[in-house]
Amino acid sequence: MTLSTRSPSALSAALRDIQAPVRHELGAVSQELWRVVSADVPLVQEVQEHLMGMKGKLFRPTLLLLSSAVEERTQPRAVTYAAVIELIHLATLVHDDAVDHSALRRGMPTVNSLFSHQVSVIMGDYLYLRALKELVTLGDLEAMRSITAASNEMTLGEMRQLSAFDALAFTESDYETLIRAKTASLFMAACEVGALCGAPQHRDALVRYGERLGMAFQVADDLLDYTEGQEMTGKPSGLDLKEHKVTLPLIAALREMSSASRARVETLFASSEPDDEAIADVVEIVRDSGGLDYARRRGEQFASEAEEALADLPDSAARSSLVDAISYVVERRW
Ligand code: IPE
Ligand code: IPE
Ligand code: MG
Ligand code: MG
Repeated sequence: MTLSTRSPSALSAALRDIQAPVRHELGAVSQELWRVVSADVPLVQEVQEHLMGMKGKLFRPTLLLLSSAVEERTQPRAVTYAAVIELIHLATLVHDDAVDHSALRRGMPTVNSLFSHQVSVIMGDYLYLRALKELVTLGDLEAMRSITAASNEMTLGEMRQLSAFDALAFTESDYETLIRAKTASLFMAACEVGALCGAPQHRDALVRYGERLGMAFQVADDLLDYTEGQEMTGKPSGLDLKEHKVTLPLIAALREMSSASRARVETLFASSEPDDEAIADVVEIVRDSGGLDYARRRGEQFASEAEEALADLPDSAARSSLVDAISYVVERRW
């Protein structure tokens, strides 16, 4: 059940072009994913087939492979590291959808909706640990340090989000700390491990690029939750408000809105199950108070910082793709 209206062709073409220098390796990453997760347990096989049937963008493996190719000296182990990074991403999505009570991902039912919460918890753990087992087999301590530090950060980020107890007091600086942990940290690890596999002299620049790009990526994701329907993103829209998640559009809007509007936002946050009408009402308030425009501008600032980080990288097809990945991130619609 893939939703046909998802992936607008112009943007998919942009992603295809970005992935062109590493297309061959990305094909190998998909095969590595299958190899790494296979297990002789029927329920694991069933969930795994479901997960492998939902195609994501493979954006983090793409960043890893492009980073490893900026000096055109990439090593074959980059493909396995790219699969490891995607597996960790997948594990966080399986857990995140259970935590967020989300029913749709990549245009398909989530593991929690198709199977159960229990299966999501165990399957997420399984994916993490399969990734870790593969890392140990590869045996490179630096790569291990980078990837396990990112996973640790991500978990703390998700926990930080869950424990925000006065949601409407969440500041822009709290938000940045959160998205750096839950999203940018894995982008940083992807770029760092890529550098370790072919361009170690550019390690710091690529880590900085990954950090800024990851921030822009999550700001864009949080905007999409306000602006796009599920037929485009392949996941539910308005879910952040429904789950009482305060993201940048709302943080910015709260600073500008009237007290009457703020009262309507507070009502939504006081309701344990806000209905679609209350959500649409707050989305409109956020838009009218300039929250969406503010988040777009902030996303563009992160994007231009990502571009600055690439300044000293040599000219190559991989470098051009890393540059193009920046505008893709801010313009993406899924
Ligand atoms: C979704 O990541 C999780 C976030 C950090 C917002 P992606 O948008 O890269 O998800 P897939 O892998 O393409 O489905
Ligand atoms: C990002 O946050 C999730 C992770 C980094 C695991 P979201 O909760 O916004 O991601 P989506 O929107 O479900 O993909
Ligand atoms: Mg989520
Ligand atoms: Mg989201």
